[in-house]
Amino acid sequence: MDNRSIGIFDSGLGGLTTVKRLKELLPGENMIFLVDTGSVPYGGRSTQTLIKYAREDIDFFNKFNVKAVIVACNTVSAAALNYVINDYDMPIIGVIDAAVNRAVSETKNKKIGVIGTVATINSGIYIKKIQAIIPDAQVFTCACPLLVPLVENGRIKKGDIVIETVLKEYLSTFKGTGIDTLILACTHYPLLKDIIEDIMGPDVFLVDSGGVTAEYVFDWMEKNDLFSQSAQGNIDYFVTDDTESFRNTASLFLGSDITENVHQASLSGKNEA
Ligand code: DGL
Repeated sequence: MDNRSIGIFDSGLGGLTTVKRLKELLPGENMIFLVDTGSVPYGGRSTQTLIKYAREDIDFFNKFNVKAVIVACNTVSAAALNYVINDYDMPIIGVIDAAVNRAVSETKNKKIGVIGTVATINSGIYIKKIQAIIPDAQVFTCACPLLVPLVENGRIKKGDIVIETVLKEYLSTFKGTGIDTLILACTHYPLLKDIIEDIMGPDVFLVDSGGVTAEYVFDWMEKNDLFSQSAQGNIDYFVTDDTESFRNTASLFLGSDITENVHQASLSGKNEA
């Protein structure tokens, strides 16, 4: 038993897809979700900047004595986590391994697509990790820099010509490749799942990196006896930019009003009020 909270962070609203799945699986857990809306999008930043953001985000949880920090962001998990993880004692869980494991267990023809931010795709981590498990896997990647800003602006609905046009162009990369599995290697992208499914067709299995990581966290907590004793947990949201606009957009994405606490956060080194 461990009644401490779980810490989760992302640059923006994408982390909500992970928090939502965690809440379904672990309703008794208290969660603290840090959303660095003051610096979103992370995806086009340099490795040095991402390392700095990663440290600031993880350090934020020091004062809460959390039992683990979940990096609900592929960009930080891919480009920065390796540089900082050994500086911390607490368990820190990124989203890449669970996504890779699900993709390699789902693919039948060993042809896997990956979409993500520029930093995630340029890191090459998905290709490396997939081929470490299936050496002859063919991995096709596509960086999609416009998707996070569009999602942050609420352009997620089917029939929205802007998001549909942009997605069609990005996903045309996979035409003729024969992929049977596509990793949504950005936690914002499950918010676009319906549109991606329509474009890719029913034969391509979509891997939601945040969702499968939530499932991994459940198993890990079970194995290590880390569940809280409580039946009903709380979520506290800490936001580095405007709290009201976060509350409104997040409620739209979750399909229900955020009744939990939304607080203003300030991270060491930036966003100081
Ligand atoms: N959700 C983040 C990810 O998974 C988005 C990164 C960004 O802010 O560009 O990569």
